[in-house]
Amino acid sequence: MRVMARIFITRELPGPALARLNDAHETIVWPHTHPPSYDELREYTADSDALLSLLTDRVDAELIAGSPKLRVIANYAVGYDNIDVDAASARGIPVGNTPDALTEATADLAFALLMAAARRITEASAFAHSGEWHTWDPGAFLGADISGATLGIIGLGRIGQAVARRATGFGMEILTTETRDQSNLEHLLRRSDFVSIHLPLTAGTRNLIGAAAFALMKPTAILINTARGAIVDAAALAEALHTGRIGGAALDVTLPEPLPPDDPLWQAPNLLVVPHIGSATWTARERMTDMAVENILAGLDGRPLPHQVPAQLFD
Ligand code: DGY
Repeated sequence: MRVMARIFITRELPGPALARLNDAHETIVWPHTHPPSYDELREYTADSDALLSLLTDRVDAELIAGSPKLRVIANYAVGYDNIDVDAASARGIPVGNTPDALTEATADLAFALLMAAARRITEASAFAHSGEWHTWDPGAFLGADISGATLGIIGLGRIGQAVARRATGFGMEILTTETRDQSNLEHLLRRSDFVSIHLPLTAGTRNLIGAAAFALMKPTAILINTARGAIVDAAALAEALHTGRIGGAALDVTLPEPLPPDDPLWQAPNLLVVPHIGSATWTARERMTDMAVENILAGLDGRPLPHQVPAQLFD
């Protein structure tokens, strides 16, 4: 007979899958739209057997040490930089994530940002709504060509490859690199009209795109980030936009999230920001719930997680 476990779920999630956990176990779902504070997360996880966390939840060594019953952590994201995987592994706690479910949705969003920035969609839309639109203007809202342009893709994992497939259809030239290849990265930064980031956040990728990278980029280049905010040095980006060192940026991710109202980035020109919606399609988010539930059920049964992250982050 299965022993009933206690599962802390840090937010209500789309789709029907959470009911499967509720049928078999005791579930505590954080009822608010804001995330639990770190102290609340620690308190609720302290006597739980399983934790279903979001990327906004910091699951660090201290929290893990303070949760003696914890047997499995399932993160509702493909990225798991919010979790101290080494500390979990040291305790024999498997950590799961949700790969594949959001690949196409995130690649779509990266491409939507690329096109919106190239064609100045938000600016043009605001103008159309403003009442100032009096006639067709041959010189208004001129933007950058996408067809024939060069797209630099940094990180050629699942999402990077999905972006490359889209770019091929748009007739773009594609350059790719992984972070370890410094000379290839520099070549990509010099040559690309658009640079799109598709890397996990690790110690090796934190602030990877900073002043030195912007110095290499074309003054017309547009940066797209749908990965993690901390991969881009935000102060250097604000400076690069203010000084015209690069042509623009379109961000789905920032550090922190949300950006505080007084963050210098808000004053930067040619900047488009959306609130971390890369995986925000019904299908992707419901599949992510399925995968997290599958991970929790497997972990509580002592089976290998169907979607388990490597025991250590590779830098
Ligand atoms: C992820 O999965 O890591 C995204 O950032 C959110 O879905």
